[in-house]
Amino acid sequence: MRDHSPMVSTFSAFLLVVIRLQTRVACSSSPGPLAPALFVFGDSTFDSGNNNRLPTLAKANYLPYGDNFSGGVTGRFTNGRNIPDFLAEFLGLPYAPPYLSFRTSVVITGLNFASGACGILPDTGDYLGKCLNLDDQVRLFESAARNDLPRLFKSSDEFSSYLAKSIFAFSIGNNDYINNYLIPTLYNTSKTYEPWPFAKLLGAALSRHLERLYNMGARKFVVFQIGPIGCIPTIAKKSKHDGVCDEGPNLLVSYFNQMLQLMLENMTSSLTRSMFVLGRANPLGYDAIINPSIYGLTDSRNPCCTTWGNGSFSCVPFLTPCRDADKHFFWDGYHLTDTVSSIIASRCFNDTIVCSPVSIQDLVQI
Ligand SMILES: *[C@@H]1O[C@H](CO)[C@@H](O)[C@H](O)[C@H]1NC(C)=O
Ligand SMILES: *[C@@H]1O[C@H](CO)[C@@H](O)[C@H](O)[C@H]1NC(C)=O
Ligand SMILES: *[C@@H]1O[C@H](CO)[C@@H](O)[C@H](O)[C@H]1NC(C)=O
Ligand SMILES: *[C@@H]1O[C@H](CO)[C@@H](O)[C@H](O)[C@H]1NC(C)=O
Ligand SMILES: *[C@@H]1O[C@H](CO)[C@@H](O)[C@H](O)[C@H]1NC(C)=O
Repeated sequence: MRDHSPMVSTFSAFLLVVIRLQTRVACSSSPGPLAPALFVFGDSTFDSGNNNRLPTLAKANYLPYGDNFSGGVTGRFTNGRNIPDFLAEFLGLPYAPPYLSFRTSVVITGLNFASGACGILPDTGDYLGKCLNLDDQVRLFESAARNDLPRLFKSSDEFSSYLAKSIFAFSIGNNDYINNYLIPTLYNTSKTYEPWPFAKLLGAALSRHLERLYNMGARKFVVFQIGPIGCIPTIAKKSKHDGVCDEGPNLLVSYFNQMLQLMLENMTSSLTRSMFVLGRANPLGYDAIINPSIYGLTDSRNPCCTTWGNGSFSCVPFLTPCRDADKHFFWDGYHLTDTVSSIIASRCFNDTIVCSPVSIQDLVQI
């Protein structure tokens, strides 16, 4: 009757192992965020609701936008999460809230300044209404970093260290083509600049804004390329061409993307303790459009939602979208589905072919 002690000790040894394992799992599953904050700048690809607060036609504040998002309709231009949302998840941070909704209480884990329809040049997209161009976005950040954020820190050293460790993510420039250079009836840029000088003009303005953020104390930047805009349904469906994509606009943005790589390398080497990471979303996105099945997709040409322009432009409000958004590359006539944003963000997080010279996983450790 009494002689069950070996059993008990085996059992308690087993328990001990279980407890140790659980402790280890608990530690590794909640290591705290990998960076103190994520600050987001850009256009509709990164907007998380700023345009809801602005008088503009460029809005995504109605269903079916947000159909597959935990927070429902928020102003994100997609069915689910966008790239910064995935980056926030991987970093262990909350989604960066739209600055225009959080003016009164700045959020220490990051803010989103991105605004649909806008771009690097001040008048890009202005025919649709008011949006935050890159200069507006950087000015709003500067104001938050001068007036609001420092109050959350005990000392200016602590605040500097916070800024230096935070991630500053950008996706901007798409609309300087889509909502400017490619609309010669409204904008004179294509008559004024050849493709390469136009790319240099955009690059000069972009680098000035990045340098302003560096001067405020930002050190870790991730700047995504312009996507293959000749493949977005709004452009691909309206022009006559042989393939899936209209390669004319793709060639145009390739000048920008080439310039961007040189510019970021140059900035990393000339600005002390900075790292400017290039996000190669263009070749990755293009490959997924040409070879969708490799990425688990079945449709890389048609939007999932019903759009205004027979497969182009934005979603018509309140119509039921396709049933398999996770098999589509495009959600509407311009924007990616949750699934495609997930692919790009996770590659950028882990893979130095997509985000270089270092992945975000490495960037947070520098
Ligand atoms: C192009 O248009 C802008 C206003 O949008 C104007 O300021 C500029 O002078 C024009 N440039 C040329 C070369 O026409
Ligand atoms: C590199 O950066 C320096 C300093 O910002 C600048 O003067 C120079 O024009 C840049 N060169 C290129 C190729 O971008
Ligand atoms: C919509 O576009 C398709 C080709 O993309 C064309 O066959 C069809 O006629 C168009 N429908 C309308 C209503 O314009
Ligand atoms: C998106 O949400 C709709 C409506 O709730 C649902 O039918 C669909 O299966 C969801 N798609 C994905 C990819 O989660
Ligand atoms: C990064 O790679 C590791 C190991 O392959 C994997 O466990 C992890 O889920 C990946 N992270 C992301 C965000 O893709």
